[in-house]
Amino acid sequence: MKVDVLIVGAGAAGLMCAIAAGQRGRRVLVVDHANKVGKKILMSGGGRCNFTNTGAGPANFLSANPHFAKSALARYTPWDFIALVEKHGIAYHEKELGQLFCDDSSKQIVRMLLDECAAAGVTVEASCGVQRVRKTPEGFSVRTARGEVHAESLVVASGGLSIPSMGASGFGYELARQFGHAVLPTRAGLVPLTLSGKHQEHYQDLAGVALPLAETRVGKQSFRAGLLFTHRGLSGPSILQISSYWQPGDDLRIDLLPDQDTGDWLIGQRQARPLAELKTVLGDVLPKRLAQRLCEQWFESRPMRQYREAELAQIGSQLNAWPITASGTEGYRTAEVTLGGVDTDGLSSSTMQSRLVPGLYFIGEVVDVTGWLGGYNFQWAWASGQAAGQVA
Ligand code: FDA
Repeated sequence: MKVDVLIVGAGAAGLMCAIAAGQRGRRVLVVDHANKVGKKILMSGGGRCNFTNTGAGPANFLSANPHFAKSALARYTPWDFIALVEKHGIAYHEKELGQLFCDDSSKQIVRMLLDECAAAGVTVEASCGVQRVRKTPEGFSVRTARGEVHAESLVVASGGLSIPSMGASGFGYELARQFGHAVLPTRAGLVPLTLSGKHQEHYQDLAGVALPLAETRVGKQSFRAGLLFTHRGLSGPSILQISSYWQPGDDLRIDLLPDQDTGDWLIGQRQARPLAELKTVLGDVLPKRLAQRLCEQWFESRPMRQYREAELAQIGSQLNAWPITASGTEGYRTAEVTLGGVDTDGLSSSTMQSRLVPGLYFIGEVVDVTGWLGGYNFQWAWASGQAAGQVA
């Protein structure tokens, strides 16, 4: 079989690229080894797909080259994707902080992409893995489960390593290496953190306890959002966000009461409620079980009037910068994304084309560009897919 463009991976990036290339009149084939296309879109956003973020910009992405994503993101913006969603009559809403979700179901996004593919004359084949890729003078010769495919352009949109049960594979990284591209070390991102030893013992029975707002910090990076205790450690959006910046051994601090100088507040409480115990006072602003546990672990709970000002200031600063030691992450099994990947040094930032092998493109999560939680990763998939689809 002969096509102009062969795309490996029918996820967000691959389908968007196929639409753009098909609309240019290119003969496009998209293959995916999973039995269904767009599986990650289907499971995303709790089944409602947080398909973009209206505030998405280069600052919301991690990459060894923070400038790389700028061009593609500027040329295909959240508003371009919103226009597509509206064209298909898909109802959506903003949850918070610019995060847009379908009102109904993420199935609508997959349906929309497949309808656009059909309208652009694109062929999409599920249950079709790729066994080997060879460079030929005309382009590429690719052995797939349905036979040999000859293509002028080859687009690698095979995603990262997260959630192997959904079809994730290291295919894109292996192919990149085969053609001489550097691949930066990969690790799980947007993932719960684990605790071990004493830390786990102290907090594991708090599993299910949630804080509506905490501020997590690693170095200069911080995030304010909810936090959740789990059986194995910590989760919730503020932890998932900071997990992409955390590496084993890094100092992680959590401000459990980020809207106040807790020392000053406690000193005020000593005056207002001298007979109340510290754990009762803290239980008014923190989940009661957590307040009690912190008192057991850190500072014995006495009536407020028995504390000196300096002691309350000290307790306050501990609550504003809880030095919890994470032992690791839950890994690719539960991670939303994979950090690292195909080194952007080897790619054109405007077209995603390889600088080493003409006609070869890498898009989406397989590339060393990873977004924050909140619709940013899909925006990168749409934007990088569109960039490649305009030239492949
Ligand atoms: P994606 O992983 O979507 O697609 C790659 C495709 O390639 C897959 O279909 C796979 O089967 C296929 N493939 C792999 N190897 C292959 C091979 N050898 N041969 C053929 N096919 C192969 N992001 C966001 O912005 N908003 C959200 O709400 C969420 N929610 C979310 C929830 C969960 C549970 C996860 C795991 C992830 C998210 N994400 C997210 C992240 C988002 O899903 C992710 O960044 C994009 O799907 C990446 O798109 P890609 O097209 O690059 O890869």
